[in-house]
This record gives sequence, structure tokens and C-alpha cells, in this order.
Amino acid sequence: MTDTSHLLALGHERYLPIYRPRDLILERGQGARLWDTEGHDYIDFGAGIAVCSLGHCDPDLVAALHEQGGRLWHTSNVFYSEPPLRLAEELVAASRFAERVFLCNSGAEANEAAIKLVRKWATAQGRAPERRVIVSFRGSFHGRTLAAVTATAQPKYQDGYEPLPGGFRYVDFNDLAQLETAMADGDVAAVLVEPVQGEGGVMPAADGFLQGVRALCDRHGALLVLDEIQCGMGRTGVLFAHWHDGAVPDIVTMAKALGGGFPIGAMLAGPRVAEVMQFGAHGTTFGGNPLAAAVARVALRKLASEPIAANVRRQAAAIRDALAAIDEEFGLFSEIRGRGLMLGAALNQTHAGRAGEILSYAAAAGLLLLQAGPDVLRLVPPLNIGDDELEEGLARLQSGLRAYLDARSQGRSEQVGSRQSFPLARE
Ligand SMILES: Cc1ncc(COP(=O)(O)O)c(C=O)c1O
Repeated sequence: MTDTSHLLALGHERYLPIYRPRDLILERGQGARLWDTEGHDYIDFGAGIAVCSLGHCDPDLVAALHEQGGRLWHTSNVFYSEPPLRLAEELVAASRFAERVFLCNSGAEANEAAIKLVRKWATAQGRAPERRVIVSFRGSFHGRTLAAVTATAQPKYQDGYEPLPGGFRYVDFNDLAQLETAMADGDVAAVLVEPVQGEGGVMPAADGFLQGVRALCDRHGALLVLDEIQCGMGRTGVLFAHWHDGAVPDIVTMAKALGGGFPIGAMLAGPRVAEVMQFGAHGTTFGGNPLAAAVARVALRKLASEPIAANVRRQAAAIRDALAAIDEEFGLFSEIRGRGLMLGAALNQTHAGRAGEILSYAAAAGLLLLQAGPDVLRLVPPLNIGDDELEEGLARLQSGLRAYLDARSQGRSEQVGSRQSFPLARE
């Protein structure tokens, strides 16, 4: 058995079978390129699910990790250390609204903290438990803890985990009239929304939607909580996606690209809620770990910079142009949508449900892509991707799509294997 097949067998046998990773073992990454254990290279348009926004092994992130790694790894929150203190200050300054920060380890944990903060705030307002409802939107994704998955208004993530925590209500995304009806009884404590829905199909908030949500929250005495875990950290061309919409939140959650690949999450709290949780109200052992914080400080500085924003604008336009050209040739898409470098290509009716299959052809052609549900190809490359890597990735996408269409026209489908078993001529 080769090393690769041995490792794949371990994955099949030893992991809880909750994931279905592609049958390859990634070994090394540099910028927007990855290599597997068989020596094949891939252009990475998935960035570890919108996490590696500075690409793989960014030298400044590596330097920060090495430096901190030789100094101090962990203190717990029983003691202070400098990197998380500095990070908290820098997040507050960057946020334009927050006063305080809770550091944690993942997106679900940041949302869990936000949900608990909303409930504590409502309690402090003297609201009875049944008047502490949190509204979220169909198609949303907020994570896998029991409360976060209950806020995630998609039955496929919740099925089988009942009884779910109470006090959640769902309405259609981008539908202010429905939200108004859902808030009419005055029992809503908060509205939780992604400025761009990620897992739900790369769906941006419509023009004026977030401002409308803010106005309804103000009218009904509710908090506005924004989940920027996927769409934040510069991905849409500005540091926080809600800056496009001009709505001021009470709470913002972050994770993913905050650590550029090192696990960290954060909940930012504005003036109405910053003092609500007092000593002992919440906590975590690892949150604000010096290693994670040292890396995140560098990621934040770099991802907030104008050169990154300019690259996002330029490369987003290049990808949109390329997808339009691909569609003209192949007739695959019903819509290209998203913001900045968070892009979704929705498959038309003929190809609906085949996003997973197309991803296999893309990987076989040397391109790692994501899907957002069965009908949408999701492109979330590193925000610093260069022209050459982008061009190469798009050429590989075209090759992969051509191979997919050829296979379909010959009645072959589904069975494309890993890169090496796919006879694709590449220059
Ligand atoms: C918008 C959003 N919120 C929350 C999460 C959960 O984050 P994590 O997987 O780090 O718990 C995700 C993950 O995909 C996400 O996209």
C-alpha cells in the first residue's frame, strides 16, 4: 500500500464519517497553489472554505507564528498576554462600532456567544423567556453547535438533533415584509443575518435590506447581529461586508479568515451590549490563545489594507468576465452572483444538482472549487491571488467543465476519480 492509499484508508476507517473529503492528501501549499502527496498541484479557489485569504503559508503569518511559538503558547483567560489584548484593541478600532471583544476558536463558538449575549441582554431588559426570540433567515448557516444549528434555518442541518433549543423563528431572506410580520408581537430580541449568505448559495443581501432590518430592530427594540464569519475580513472588497450597506450592528461575529488558517473566532459587541455579560457569564479555555492572536493581528492588518481591497475588485471582475465567457461557450449557469471574491455560479436547470460532480472534474483538472448546496459552484480564492494563478485556475476550470460536458454527452457521469486517474491534457 502506498503512503497515500494508506492515509486515505485511515481517513475512511478512523474519522467519524461526517465528511466526504476528496480522495487526495494535501501536503504543501504556497500562495494559491497546493500540492498533494502524489506531487500533483492544484490552484485553490476554495481557500479552506474562505479561510486562507492570504493564501497558504503567507510569509508574514508564518513569521508571526514562529515568533510567538518561541515565546508563549497559552495562558488561559486566568491571565493576560499581549497578543490577544492588542488584537482586541485592533478589532475594536477597525470595526467602527464595537467597544468590547470576546475571543474564541471558531465561527460556531462566536455565534453561540452572540446568541447567549442576546439572551442575557433581553433578560437584563426584564423580558420573560418567551420574549427573547431570535429571528434568522432561511438559507442561512451559523454553525453546528446546538444553538447555532438551530439559528441555521435549513432543516438538513437540524434533522435528527431534536429537541432543538427554543426561541428561534425563521423568515425568508431579503423579505422585509415577512420580517416585519415576524416581529409584530414585540417578542423578538434580535435578528441574526449574514450580509452575504455563504453555504445557502452565495446570496447577497438585497440593496437596502440590512438598513431595513436595522430600522425594524430599532422600531421593535431588538438587536442586530451580523454573522460576518464567511463574508467578512475583506472578502467582499471591504473589511466588513456590512459596510456596503451602511447599517450599524450591535454584534458582529467573525472567524475563518481572521486567523488566515489558524483557528480563531471573535464576537464584537457594540455599546448597547458590551457590558451585559459580567464575570463568570461566559468563557472558553483556548479563546484568545496567544498563538492564534499573534497570527490574527497580522491577518487583520494585511486583509484591511488597500492593496488587498484593490486586488479583490480587480480579480473579482476578472473571474466574472471569465465565467461569462465560459457560460457563453458551455451554457451552464443561470446566474453569477456574490460580492467581491465571494462568488457563486448558479447552475441552470439542465445541470441543477450536479455541483458536486462538477467539483470532481475541476479537481481532476487541477482546480479546487467549492459548492454552496447542490446547485451552486462557489469561488472564494485567496484575496491576494495573483494574475498568473487566477488565469491558470480559470483555464483549469474551463478544462474541467469541458470534460464534465463531454462525459455527460457520452452518457458517462459521476465516476471521475482523482486527478491522476483523469486523462486530462494540460499544458
Ligand atoms: C456564515 C457562517 N457562520 C458560521 C459558520 C461556522 O463556522 P465554524 O465552522 O468555524 O464553526 C460558518 C462556516 O461555514 C459560516 O459560513
